[in-house]
Amino acid sequence: MSVRVMCVGLACVDIVSVCKNYPEEDSDQRVLDFYWQKGGNAANSSTVLSLLGAKSEYMGSFANDNEMRFLQEEFTSQGVLTSNCHTYDTGYMTPTSIIIVNSQNGSRTILHASKNLPEVSLEDFKKIDLKNYKWIHFEGRPNLSGSSYEIVRMLAYIDEYNHSRSESEQIQTSVELEKPARAAELDQLLDKANYVFISKDYNQHKGLNSKEESARAFIQKCRKGAAVICAWGEDGAAAMDSQGQLVTSPCFPPDKLCDTLAAGDTFNAATIYALAQGKTLADAITFGCKIAGAKCGMQGIKGLKDVKFTEELQLNQ
Ligand code: ADP
Ligand code: FRU
Repeated sequence: MSVRVMCVGLACVDIVSVCKNYPEEDSDQRVLDFYWQKGGNAANSSTVLSLLGAKSEYMGSFANDNEMRFLQEEFTSQGVLTSNCHTYDTGYMTPTSIIIVNSQNGSRTILHASKNLPEVSLEDFKKIDLKNYKWIHFEGRPNLSGSSYEIVRMLAYIDEYNHSRSESEQIQTSVELEKPARAAELDQLLDKANYVFISKDYNQHKGLNSKEESARAFIQKCRKGAAVICAWGEDGAAAMDSQGQLVTSPCFPPDKLCDTLAAGDTFNAATIYALAQGKTLADAITFGCKIAGAKCGMQGIKGLKDVKFTEELQLNQ
């Protein structure tokens, strides 16, 4: 990939405790392991893209605190550019998640705290030079006042840029709708991007009970020429293009389930990576499921750097 892939959205600190079993309320126990790592959907996806070999950039907001310096070191060591991030000065706090990973089944329980850090603004976004990007992915997130209109405007700004460019110069766009609690605000993003990733939780909240049913329902709401992609945990993923062609992939379970934290972010990144290389929707979601499955067999995502070279996971060139 000659030009960058950018992911716009959250970076936070994940404070992870690995427990023997999921703890009982009001109990007291020692954990098996404890560590900090960089988290946030856009931060995770941009990192996976870099580990897979893409030129990757993260754009989000930084507070001016020690947690932010930790995040920046992680981005740098993982090869992800952050030079277009806006750093807010004193008084702002880096968002944090306290996470319990159950070592029996790899489940992750997330307690997220986000106090006052603003989301990326259109004004900041307009400072980037769009010609450096091949693909821009947005994590659907309402801003502090509860609106996702700023993302709508950033996507419209890219559409406008694309309008006067040849096909090969155009930027592909994607958006992720993940959190059911924000569905009312996020639904307005459905018809604003070329690829729409919709999580299992989001689909179930809408009363949709399988990946196929979800893809069929949501493609109706996407814009002409777009595709919808629905990951479905242990049931793999499905996608549909605007001609109504449905493709599916099974999941690829690791030998031992270790940690499912960021499986969805990994799936999104690997699928984008494959699509950006011109792969079909079917091949891209299969690659997404393979890489996400490999991730579930390891702690965190850093080990993906080595996994991608194994023959089974090779993206056919
Ligand atoms: P999220 O992290 O958003 O909850 P999902 O649970 O839908 O995401 O998982 C995203 C992708 O990760 C799935 O499509 C699948 O390919 C992979 N995955 C998730 N859970 C497992 C699992 N237990 N075993 C293997 N792969 C999994
Ligand atoms: C995983 C994740 C974590 C973060 C949380 C925020 O998808 O991005 O890294 O703490 O979700 O909701």
